[in-house]
Amino acid sequence: MEFLVDRTDGDTLFRLVLGLVVPRPIGWVSTVSREGVYNLAPFSFFNAVNDEPPVFMISVGDRDDGSLKDTVRNILDTEEFVINLVSEDLFRNMLITAEEFPPEVDEFKKAGLTPEPAKLVKAPRIKEAKAAFECKLFKHEKVYDMHLILGEAKLIRVEEGVADREGRIDYEKLRPVGRLMGSYYLRVLPDRLLKV
Ligand SMILES: Cc1cc2nc3c(=O)[nH]c(=O)nc-3n(C[C@H](O)[C@H](O)[C@H](O)COP(=O)(O)O)c2cc1C
Repeated sequence: MEFLVDRTDGDTLFRLVLGLVVPRPIGWVSTVSREGVYNLAPFSFFNAVNDEPPVFMISVGDRDDGSLKDTVRNILDTEEFVINLVSEDLFRNMLITAEEFPPEVDEFKKAGLTPEPAKLVKAPRIKEAKAAFECKLFKHEKVYDMHLILGEAKLIRVEEGVADREGRIDYEKLRPVGRLMGSYYLRVLPDRLLKV
C-alpha cells in the first residue's frame, strides 16, 4: 500500500507517522511561566540530536484555538526548561499532566509530583523522576504548524544507582516508558532486550 502524501488526509497521515515511528521516548517537560507558575507536559516528539554537548528536540503543536501551549510560551519567555524522563512508576502522573489545564494551574500539584529546584535553570525538575536534563533554549524553529524546540543540556541529573560513574544506565532501575500510537505505551523490559 502506498500513500501519496499530497492526496492523503491529515488524520491518516497522523496515524501513519505516529504509528510507524515507534517506540518514541517521552520527554516530560517542566517549565516556569513569567508569573512564576510551574508547568509540566509530556511530548513524544522527543529525541536526542547531539551528545557533546547534549542537545535534545521536542516538537509541539498549537492548541485547537491556535494559541501556544504553555510549554512553548514559557520556553520562549524564559529560554529555559527541564526534560524529565518517564518511568513506569510515574506513568499515571504523566498522563494527568497531558490534560490542558489553564496557564495559572500548577500541574505538579494536579499530578501529585514534587517540584525540586534545578541547579542551573529556573524551571523546576520533577523530584520523583529518575533522570532529568536541565536545558537552555538552543533554537526555536517553525516546521509547518509545529514548534521545533532544541535545548542544550547544561546538567544531567540521574538518580543514585540508575547510572554508574561512566554513565552506563541500569534499565532495571530506570524502567523507561515508550509511546506507540494513541493510548498504547510500552515498557522496556531488560529480559526482552536484544543483545549482540
Ligand atoms: C505521551 C504523550 C505524548 C505527547 N506528545 C506530544 C507531542 O509530541 N507534541 C505535542 O504538541 N503534544 C503532545 N502531547 C500532548 C500534550 O502533552 C498536551 O497538549 C499538553 O496539554 C500540553 O500542555 P501545556 O499546554 O501545559 O504545554 C502528548 C501527550 C501525551 C500523553
